[in-house]
Amino acid sequence: MTFDFLARGAKPGDDPIFALNAEASARKARGEPIVNATIGALLADDGALAVLPTAARAVGEVPTSEWAPYAPISGSPAFLDAVLDDALGAVPELRAFGVAVATPGGTGALRHALTTFLAPGQSVLTTSFYWGPYATLADEHDRRVATFRMFDEQGALDVADLDRALGEAIAAQGRALLFLNDPCHNPTGYSMSDADWAATVEVVGRHAERAPVAVLVDAAYAAYGPAGALARPTRALARIADRALVLVAWSASKTFTHYGLRVGALVACVPDPAARAQVAGALGYACRGTWSNCNRGGMAAVTALLRDAALRTAVDGERASFVALLDARVAAWNAAARPRGLRYPRYDGGFFVTVFTDDAQRAAEALRGEGVFVVPQRGALRVALCSVAARDVPRLVEAIARHVV
Ligand SMILES: Cc1ncc(COP(=O)(O)O)c(C=O)c1O
Repeated sequence: MTFDFLARGAKPGDDPIFALNAEASARKARGEPIVNATIGALLADDGALAVLPTAARAVGEVPTSEWAPYAPISGSPAFLDAVLDDALGAVPELRAFGVAVATPGGTGALRHALTTFLAPGQSVLTTSFYWGPYATLADEHDRRVATFRMFDEQGALDVADLDRALGEAIAAQGRALLFLNDPCHNPTGYSMSDADWAATVEVVGRHAERAPVAVLVDAAYAAYGPAGALARPTRALARIADRALVLVAWSASKTFTHYGLRVGALVACVPDPAARAQVAGALGYACRGTWSNCNRGGMAAVTALLRDAALRTAVDGERASFVALLDARVAAWNAAARPRGLRYPRYDGGFFVTVFTDDAQRAAEALRGEGVFVVPQRGALRVALCSVAARDVPRLVEAIARHVV
């Protein structure tokens, strides 16, 4: 008998990155000297998950009466208010017309943006290097991904190609949704400059004059960028918020090192109150129609971390030491990779760096054979420095250099 129950055909159940990580961990457990640069979680130099102690304490202090009940469909009001302040607080003119719904991590926020601001069959536009699950999320919801070239020949953000691709998207589907993961872009480690944002906003604002254009800032790594890093995109986007729909995918996963808590939010900035109520309604409906409501205890813990001044100061201080750990790895990377001639974008920080290479699949396979695990992408290898101790970086660079240069 043929198995024909799968109406949408067979799908790979395991995320390729999680599969690579599982193999790396199994081989390490058998005693092989493995360098595992696959997984996007911050690990301490001893390989243990780096968890912010104050965040763990805040989670532990949430009482049962907060964990057990359902949460409101769109999220706990105090949580949504705290997230709006965190995401938009630096830009009062956006904060004034922000609305938010709770989502399971940034992933849920991306999901809601795809299904609420695109029709089935339409494409979200993003950078040519992008986090693989964007494509899974789009496919799962009968949407697609289109890309613009992320870097031009000089290594600068290719805003001219963004202009072209936005024009194409609008011509093809009469609307556009743009995902920009900034700051600390996954997988390249690139953070857009003020000039990048000014140029992007000019292009988006022009297209938004003739069709509905929504711009989503995927802020998953914002807490690891320079201080106030999310203010750069939100300030720039405030200039076109009268024409374009400004969205922020907010996540507690990396911000508070509680990836499994599944706390996040989608923020939307809608100046007109009636339109804002419509957007809030559509997003609440999307919550009810997918996961119903989110982790109430998790929202309570994150609200405390965002709102309680002492907790916030403590957690920010602890995170600063994690950023210093990442900075040491960045310094080790730059010191080893530049002399070896590796080609990679300007890398200032964050969880990842990307090495350009034409045959990434072959290079990643060869590296895997040597016990060095990286993630192949089209035209590049993603290297998760967040999970590699600084002392292992020279070996990592040496191995990569042998296979890509
Ligand atoms: C670019 C990017 N966006 C969003 C996310 C969402 O993560 P979460 O759903 O845990 O918030 C991740 C996580 O790896 C990511 O790398």
